[in-house]
Amino acid sequence: MSAPDRLSLPRLIGHRGAKHHAPENTLAGLRAAKRLGMAWVEFDVMLTGDGVPVLMHDESLKRTAGLDRLLCATSLQETRGLDAGGWFGAAFRGEGLPTLEATLSCLAEEGLGANVEIKPAKGRERETAKATVELLLRAWPAALPPPLISSFRMEALEVARDLAPDLPRGYLVEELPADWQATARRLACRSVHPWHEPLTRPQLTAIRAAGYAVAVYTVNDPVRGRELFEWGADSLITDDPPALLPLLEG
Ligand code: G3P
Ligand code: MG
Repeated sequence: MSAPDRLSLPRLIGHRGAKHHAPENTLAGLRAAKRLGMAWVEFDVMLTGDGVPVLMHDESLKRTAGLDRLLCATSLQETRGLDAGGWFGAAFRGEGLPTLEATLSCLAEEGLGANVEIKPAKGRERETAKATVELLLRAWPAALPPPLISSFRMEALEVARDLAPDLPRGYLVEELPADWQATARRLACRSVHPWHEPLTRPQLTAIRAAGYAVAVYTVNDPVRGRELFEWGADSLITDDPPALLPLLEG
């Protein structure tokens, strides 16, 4: 089988918006990323108990929305009054937990591209991918570049491949497994997204040589960022855009 067409990605992508500068996975966070110079953001999508895709990283609402309950046991209506910003700082108090649908409108307003990470609660992989991809197919802003869909959960990428074969997919991994290429090929991915810590130069070189774009997460140290760019990384996903933007100069 031939190598995939190389996917073109921005050099930097804001992680969960701009996680060091504004509450993660909120509209304020996405806007902060734009203000800090990002053309793209990454965010996590999970389902409410009644099946609505919203932006959320943890299965529990406790850390970022102050409610000691699982998102999958909470209806959309019950998420409405939650404060997903106050924990980060007083300036963000009252910031809501955004639906994916509201997020797409925000991306359109801001002119922001996105890496949409499907982050299913355990056991809800296919359902989460289906709801997310169907919404992207229906409401993705036409003026933006197509969304890059990624996930650690292979079942989610399978659903994305089957429902939206033309939307690019990213194979998200912590440590690159020995059989990574068979998985990336099976899921018809265009990019691989490894965790930067265990990633080695020969691994990164091999991924690129096989035709995949490489988006490395989560890189906040400019020394490491420079090294990864020298190794050939296409894109770095960062919590801290101002720390890494100088790498793009000169
Ligand atoms: O998509 C890159 C990164 O966000 C994956 O890890 O846990 O921050 O969603 P996590
Ligand atoms: Mg993520």
